[in-house]
Amino acid sequence: MTEALVGVLDRKQNSVLLGAVEEAGAAFALRNPKSEALFKDAQSFMPGGNTRSALHFDPFPLYVAESFDACIKDADGHVYLDALGEYTAGLYGHSDARIRGAVISTLGKGVSNGAPGEAEINLSRLICERFPAIETVRFCNSGTEANLYALTLARAATKRSKFIAFSGAYHGGVFVFGAGGAAVNAPYDWTVCRYNEITKTVAAIEALGSELAAVIVEPMMSNGGCIPAAKEFLEALRAACDKVGALLILDEVVTSRMGRGGAHAKAGIEPDLVTLGKYLGAGFSFGAFGGRAPLMDLMNPIRAGSLPHAGTFNNNVFSMAAGYTGLSEVFTPERADDLYDAGEQLRARLNGLAGRCSSMVQFTGWGSILNIHFAAGEITAPEDLFGEPRDLFRLFHFDLIELGIYAARRGQINLSLAMSALDIDRIEQAIAQFLRRRGDLIRAIAGER
Ligand SMILES: Cc1ncc(COP(=O)(O)O)c(C=O)c1O
Repeated sequence: MTEALVGVLDRKQNSVLLGAVEEAGAAFALRNPKSEALFKDAQSFMPGGNTRSALHFDPFPLYVAESFDACIKDADGHVYLDALGEYTAGLYGHSDARIRGAVISTLGKGVSNGAPGEAEINLSRLICERFPAIETVRFCNSGTEANLYALTLARAATKRSKFIAFSGAYHGGVFVFGAGGAAVNAPYDWTVCRYNEITKTVAAIEALGSELAAVIVEPMMSNGGCIPAAKEFLEALRAACDKVGALLILDEVVTSRMGRGGAHAKAGIEPDLVTLGKYLGAGFSFGAFGGRAPLMDLMNPIRAGSLPHAGTFNNNVFSMAAGYTGLSEVFTPERADDLYDAGEQLRARLNGLAGRCSSMVQFTGWGSILNIHFAAGEITAPEDLFGEPRDLFRLFHFDLIELGIYAARRGQINLSLAMSALDIDRIEQAIAQFLRRRGDLIRAIAGER
């Protein structure tokens, strides 16, 4: 039984909460007339003015005019600390000089070459050196595409067609296992299990047996609320997949920033395939999938009968060069470990603040990625968050914006390498202020008054 606030909000609390959200939303609208005008304009040409669902929030999103270091500046001239970090793709911040240098020098040498180049060798070598489960790798254009290829490779390698994913998981625009996403999903044969639930998942794997091509799992459910997988859960998946001859695909599109070798190195798990994306393109479109060399070799064009792997921009020179410079010069193994530690420390401090405010406030996450939640008790799966009052997230979001912090509407905060220790303190102070300002309301909702 979830301990989130299912049905706990009585009419009075609800109207106080809604009143606070309305007031915060009205103040937001008043401060941002240019963003509002741009939003109106955009609606003439794109449905809802939007071309990426995650970037919409009500009453209208902030339009970014420019960005620098760890900051963004909106159309109305407000400067925010960027704690959204482009949903983790913005790991390097906005103006790292080394990455900028790599981009400018690439531009100087020409683009759209229609041929392989040295930059992709450099980046692939580095990825194989950094991530232990990746013996060889292939590039594509997004995390979604990386997962599409990993699943397709698993189907071809096993000659099986069934897959297991987890409720609330997000593996890309056509692999949405929560929030009513099924209608947009690519037509694979899915069985959906509960995250971190070992016994039933192992039973499902065994029941599918020789029909199961692969299990795909995020080491930390990101979109689903920043819920980490227990090591034992991942180990159980590994063992059960081995037992039935299925592949284990680890979606590390988000979690590859967890220390120097990604989440699979941290958790000591050996997946068959790993998918990557986000920051590894250093601000340019990026996706990659890699893993055991014999599996990846199914796409080796030197071999007769190999599987094709197409994509005009798979080795686009900006992603390759900027990605290589980022990983070799900026997100070095030492900095990867430091950022991980900074995130762990921040989450511990925030949980200290949260605990003093109310039993229904807590921060989940792993390393440099964290999420506020308004639910009591242990959170091991998105089901534990069912019934969280969405309006509290809206309030949190508006309040943080007012305090100069740009975060995700769903309460997610992603640290970047461009942030100083003072910037991280600013996030903590803004959250402390939110908890002070809204503490009475939260405690009333939690029945703690
Ligand atoms: C875990 C995970 N996998 C895959 C994707 C898809 O990546 P992209 O947006 O590059 O297609 C995302 C994007 O947020 C993600 O969080």
